Amino acid sequence: MPAGVAPSARSAAAFVDANVRPELRALTAYVVARAEGMIKLDAMENPFALPEHLRSRVAAAAARVAVNRYPDGEAEGVKAALRATLALPAGAGIIVGNGSDELLQIITSTLARPGASMLAAEPSFVMYRMNAIYAGMRYVGVPLTADFGLDAAAFLRAIEAEKPALVYLAYPNNPTGNLFAREDVERVLRAAPGLVVIDEAYYAFADASFIGRVMEFPNLLVLRTVSKIGMAGLRLGYAVAAPEWIAELNKLRQPYNLNALTQAVAPVLLAEGELLAQQAALIRAERARLAARLSVLPGVRLYPTQTNFVLLRVPDAPRWFASLRDAGILVKSLHGGHPLLQHCLRITVGTPQENDALLAVLEGQR
Ligand SMILES: Cc1ncc(COP(=O)(O)O)c(C=O)c1O
Repeated sequence: MPAGVAPSARSAAAFVDANVRPELRALTAYVVARAEGMIKLDAMENPFALPEHLRSRVAAAAARVAVNRYPDGEAEGVKAALRATLALPAGAGIIVGNGSDELLQIITSTLARPGASMLAAEPSFVMYRMNAIYAGMRYVGVPLTADFGLDAAAFLRAIEAEKPALVYLAYPNNPTGNLFAREDVERVLRAAPGLVVIDEAYYAFADASFIGRVMEFPNLLVLRTVSKIGMAGLRLGYAVAAPEWIAELNKLRQPYNLNALTQAVAPVLLAEGELLAQQAALIRAERARLAARLSVLPGVRLYPTQTNFVLLRVPDAPRWFASLRDAGILVKSLHGGHPLLQHCLRITVGTPQENDALLAVLEGQR
């Protein structure tokens, strides 16, 4: 230390206390559970590893990347690959992000005028509320009905009372797995004075989508991710909306938000439409097999799902979670997270072998 410069008497903690926003001090950072060596059924990933011939093509695409250069700031190759798979309505705009998580942050910051509110159903994806806190937006949660339907009357009343700048609806919903009634979502779109984000993270496992309707509703944005269809590690999400919305969101996007390796590899995998569809079909078939076996377990209630996970209410969630963990299987316990989720477990559909291992533990549970 140079002569004459006294060490600060204040600790880092004191500086943090005095300066960091109090609403952030009150948060705990999102913890990702460690799962080394376990059967991982907690995060809605696609359980299938890449076939060997695709690994070589991925490796070749990655090897060609000039990592000394910044990536394409517009990620044109990825956007073209997405457009080729999507059949978007003419004139629709598209923006890509480092996972749909990044796009949630961009969208929320864009709409966070002073005093503006965000409206969402509860329970739903926890990052909606977190992003409201990050952006200093007032968050209003409207509880779902007891069987996890959208309470349309209460939601419309909240729109009237709060005039939200931003509405989030997960379609299908996480963590409940169900698809809200289409007519209710349309009523929300017609009533909302601001942007309505329909988050279709689980579109590949659902029978309905709003993506073809983004030019019909001027306040609709459809958010998607490739994370659940086998590319969670690439971190690629996208949003589709009228170009006026996309132009505003682009102002908040970091110039090189999608890294060069993802830009090189994603088009290789997105072109494998048949493989992706086969895997989604197998996951749906395994979901039906799991549902048939789990729904007859004594004391268990299984909820309808249009996702790659199932939601169960069990007699004792902490004990069932611990039995699975002791057997080397990681699931997500939602117990304690929301009053409607008491004793609920969320279990991602795995490979047939992983699902057999899960069933062996749960069918032996008393
Ligand atoms: C409803 C919903 N939206 C968004 C995401 C985030 O996905 P990504 O991996 O693209 O950040 C998830 C992840 O679980 C989700 O469930």
